[in-house]
Amino acid sequence: MNDVLTVHGGTPLVGSIQVRGAKNLVSKAMVAALLGDEPSVLRNVPQIRDVGVVSGLLELHGVHVEEIPGPEGELRLDPSNVIQAHVADIDAHAGSSRIPILFCGPLLHRLGEAFIPDLGGCRIGDRPINYHMDVLRQFGAVVEKEPNGIAIRAPRRLQGTKLKLEYPSVGTTEQVLLTSVLAEGVTELTNAAIEPEIMDLIAVLQKMGAIISVDTDRAIRIEGVDRLGGFTHRAMPDRIEAASWASAALATKGDITVLGARQQEMMTFLNVFRKVGGLLDIGDDGIRFSHPGGELNSLVLETDVHPGFATDWQQPLVVALTQASGLSIVHETVYENRLGFTHALSQMGAQIQLYRECLGGRPCRFGRRNFMHSAVISGPAKLHGADITVPDLRGGFSHLIAALAAEGTSRVRGIGLIDRGYEHFEQKLQMLGANYER
Ligand code: EPU
Repeated sequence: MNDVLTVHGGTPLVGSIQVRGAKNLVSKAMVAALLGDEPSVLRNVPQIRDVGVVSGLLELHGVHVEEIPGPEGELRLDPSNVIQAHVADIDAHAGSSRIPILFCGPLLHRLGEAFIPDLGGCRIGDRPINYHMDVLRQFGAVVEKEPNGIAIRAPRRLQGTKLKLEYPSVGTTEQVLLTSVLAEGVTELTNAAIEPEIMDLIAVLQKMGAIISVDTDRAIRIEGVDRLGGFTHRAMPDRIEAASWASAALATKGDITVLGARQQEMMTFLNVFRKVGGLLDIGDDGIRFSHPGGELNSLVLETDVHPGFATDWQQPLVVALTQASGLSIVHETVYENRLGFTHALSQMGAQIQLYRECLGGRPCRFGRRNFMHSAVISGPAKLHGADITVPDLRGGFSHLIAALAAEGTSRVRGIGLIDRGYEHFEQKLQMLGANYER
């Protein structure tokens, strides 16, 4: 039962905490190390479960992963002896992460084949992998469905190609990058995603010897090379974790300084935070996020690919919006099912209504289908404690914030899921004065 947190809410979170490297870059940079013929060094790596999962997968494939003790959060990755992993071993990792899919390109280059178990990840929609398989086929790979996963082969060296994504998927853009860098010839990718974590992955690949240019119209051009070396890189800060704590400050009427948070990748979030009425103090070492003391403002918000408002920022912010005066509208356009977590908030006293219609400024691809992907939030609502179960990583953190903001005691179940992406979150809660027991 130690997966349950008993939270006594109603106390503002106040103090300073540190965020380290972005989960959504670190895991990809670790996979990139597989492409090199020399060891790589990644710094600012957070101690989160997803890093453990990727380390495990890399080790199964013969990569020596060494954690260097010390404040730098340093990982050394030596890919000199890449081997074929046993299907059963890879399969044992199925259900724990979506990262295995990004092993395809590197493994096809190094071994000529790859096996991808049925994938896990957060329950925030169907999360299919059709785009990934389509692009791999276009590079010349042969993709075959097997009972417990997908087998992929490269009968000969993969060939650069012209690709256009139907939707600017983050993972598929990364798939293309990790596959094209060692493919023969030029690859052109249009309608690519350009999230900051992708730009940081491009920086990693460039350090390894790749030739990649990014045009203003979200087009990426990769000139394949014959070999890649290692890299030494400091991961960009986790802008999603930083925004999660910022929302916690608003929801609990608190004052949180997030050391390590960087303005550059958070501009869209910072604008919204300010429009809601939050106070910001942007410094060299981090950003201070605080509640203004008076009322918060409601607003209309749409999630989108970068440089829009990131979907991963949406769930924690919705908790803060339950405390804003008036009606807020949130239109989720990246995932069809990322508002399910609001049922628990309603159970706690929040006034939230979900709609199938696109209630933001523009119709999205989920409109006129059966997806509850718009929310109307009426505030301020008095939240009270409840028994709730964590649905997914960001939704889970949002439940935790709601429990901290609520009057009375809540039991939050399944909080182990939060360890996937929030480093030492219990320790941080303690530093911010939260009142809870595990
Ligand atoms: N999609 C398809 N087919 C595909 C791939 C994606 O239809 O083959 C759809 C998805 O179902 C979704 C949309 O495209 O509706 C966008 O998905 P995307 O591929 O961009 O997401 P991802 O690469 O699987 C990463 C992050 C997510 C983040 C999204 C969007 C990692 C490990 N995950 O996922 O982060 O929400 O990009 O920015 O980088 C999180 O950190 O909590 C998290 C879920």
